[in-house]
Amino acid sequence: MERRLLELKEQTIRQIKQAAVLDELEKIAVRVLGKKGELTDILKGVGKLSVAERPVVGKIANKIKTEIKRVMEEKKGKLGIEAREKSLKDDVVDTSLPGKRSVIGRAHPLNIITSEIVQIFSRLGFSVKEGPDIEDEYHNFEALNIPADHPARDMHDTFYMKNGNVLRTHTSPAQIHIMKKTKPPVKIIVPGKVYRCDSDITHSPVFHQIEGLFVDRSVSVAELKGVLGFFLHELFGHNKKIRFRPSYFPFTEPSTEVDVQCVKCDGSGCNLCKNTGWIEILGAGMVNRNVFRSVGYDPDEVTGFAFGLGVERIAMLQYEIHDIRLFYENDLRFLKQF
Ligand code: PHE
Repeated sequence: MERRLLELKEQTIRQIKQAAVLDELEKIAVRVLGKKGELTDILKGVGKLSVAERPVVGKIANKIKTEIKRVMEEKKGKLGIEAREKSLKDDVVDTSLPGKRSVIGRAHPLNIITSEIVQIFSRLGFSVKEGPDIEDEYHNFEALNIPADHPARDMHDTFYMKNGNVLRTHTSPAQIHIMKKTKPPVKIIVPGKVYRCDSDITHSPVFHQIEGLFVDRSVSVAELKGVLGFFLHELFGHNKKIRFRPSYFPFTEPSTEVDVQCVKCDGSGCNLCKNTGWIEILGAGMVNRNVFRSVGYDPDEVTGFAFGLGVERIAMLQYEIHDIRLFYENDLRFLKQF
């Protein structure tokens, strides 16, 4: 019996020393010291031995058990340190390696132009506001001096909703919302989506406008010309000529359309400007007294000017884009160019 025990001890300790990973130690422990382990079996059988043998074998078996456990713990500690060192070595970060470049997006051309325009007006003290895309006919038309039978309604190709609301055909209804909420002076710029039932290479059923409104005690046509002239020069260059052409909008009186010298031919005439030398950019005018009345402003107390422009149109001119649909297709080959 003693010999068997000594053999078991030597064999087990040899195996422990040879173990290369913690898993192996675990298996040895189960096999020798576990509930049905070899050494456990021997210890269980001690009771059946003769009275003389019992204390001798019991003592040796327990000593061996302690010895095996000690060697086992020692090896466990060693393997643990080795495992930790290996993982530190494997996970090492080489800080001198070049980083991974992440692909980041960029601003959409329409957003680039919008923020350029907003920035120019911000410098003149205009603040940015928004209005809703869905309007009732009152805000989109009536309050802007376009009654139901007004021929100007035909110019708008309106999308009507079942409940009688409309998708706004221009950003001008935002003027009404904001003036109703605020006392003059009002000096705002309103970028936003507008909707018209129209679609070809230069028209999209959804496009973007920027509305401007300046109302105070004595705003005059001189201010309209000054502000819009400054804006167009900042956007298209100070060498460009600008002209104010008489026009008509129901919500402004007098009204004007503002042209800039052709960006392509500088006025000598080309296909872009249809040989006129001029490109139309803005609709504008002095706010109609009826509009002031509909928002509760006294037209004898305040005056103001309003203007509106199409963002796509300006982006198409600036970037020489000929098909409006390119803006909405999200083709990366197109978008990466800006
Ligand atoms: N709302 C007009 C349009 O969509 C533009 C405009 C705005 C004209 C403000 C005059 C004043 O065509």
